[in-house]
Amino acid sequence: MSKVAIIGAGNVGATAAYCVAEQNVADIVMVDVVPGFPQSKAIDFLHASPLRGYRVQIAGVNEYEAIQDADVVIHTAGIPRKPGMDRMDLLRTNVNIARDAARNVARYAPNAVIIAVANPLDIIATVCLRESGFPRERVVGMAGVLDSTRLRYFIAERLNVLPRDVQAMVLGGHGDSMVPLTRYASVAGIPLVDLLDGGTIKSLSDRTRVGGGEIVQYLKQGSAYYAPGASAAKMAEAVLKDEKRILPASAYLQGEYGYHDLFLGVPVLLGRGGVEKIYELELTAEEKKALDGSVEEVQGGLTQLASLG
Ligand code: NAI
Ligand code: 2OP
Repeated sequence: MSKVAIIGAGNVGATAAYCVAEQNVADIVMVDVVPGFPQSKAIDFLHASPLRGYRVQIAGVNEYEAIQDADVVIHTAGIPRKPGMDRMDLLRTNVNIARDAARNVARYAPNAVIIAVANPLDIIATVCLRESGFPRERVVGMAGVLDSTRLRYFIAERLNVLPRDVQAMVLGGHGDSMVPLTRYASVAGIPLVDLLDGGTIKSLSDRTRVGGGEIVQYLKQGSAYYAPGASAAKMAEAVLKDEKRILPASAYLQGEYGYHDLFLGVPVLLGRGGVEKIYELELTAEEKKALDGSVEEVQGGLTQLASLG
């Protein structure tokens, strides 16, 4: 049986664990700093196994040793912003958590594929890459699957069709400047541009860009986790089953699309080796300009990361 380690057993981590359990392909270990917390989740998930039909080992622990030989590590650990904490304080804390996690992954699970999830996503993925010392193929960020699934849902809702039949891709960083690539979207093979007018497509793209924010506005504290957890689990499944799926994900670019040394959402081939291929699509001048804007946002985050030392 393969093994998935999930760092951070909070809302996203626990949801990812539950979705991975339902895939029935890997044992699961959740690591969290709060004593008793990941243990409680593990026992609860095991109680559900007769109902949900999975038969995998699920453990919750407070020490990293238990991630030994994991095939996939999903990094969700972080803290939310607290009163009196500015963005840099938050960044510093979450970067330090990711540094510690990545070093432990390198120590205990040196052959794993790391799926970074914690925010700021493209920066945390950078930390995971640097601190683990892994090749770029084995560190990938989860954002594109989530942003695309939101766009797919909005299209399905508008057309009243089965959400699964909708294909759509969102590229770029996981921020306001993400790039919904609606020119490539389709429903059961029918180009979206033949089904909806430009104004409607633009409004669905705009809603996608603020999809995470819309949920935060309702929640007040905390952010989305069902779709994010399911998205991370889908990526883990692609790796564990060597599915060779083409998914939008944050990959470390070294020249692709003309960008160097940064994580950016692009279409990748995901299999047992992690990011086995990066697809370079022909972009229109307008799409490339939008992607340049997204890169600027990621570079701003990298500058902040550098200032932390
Ligand atoms: P949460 O607060 O529910 O869970 C975070 C967990 O991390 C907590 O249980 C906490 O105890 C744990 N933790 C803190 N320090 C730790 C450490 N040193 N080692 C192990 N565990 C530690 O937060 P939630 O909702 O699960 O979100 C997690 C992260 O995922 C956040 O950074 C959030 O912004 C991000 N996120 C990213 C998305 C994406 O598309 N990439 C989508 C949704 C959330
Ligand atoms: C989201 O997109 C907050 O990154 C998180 O829901």
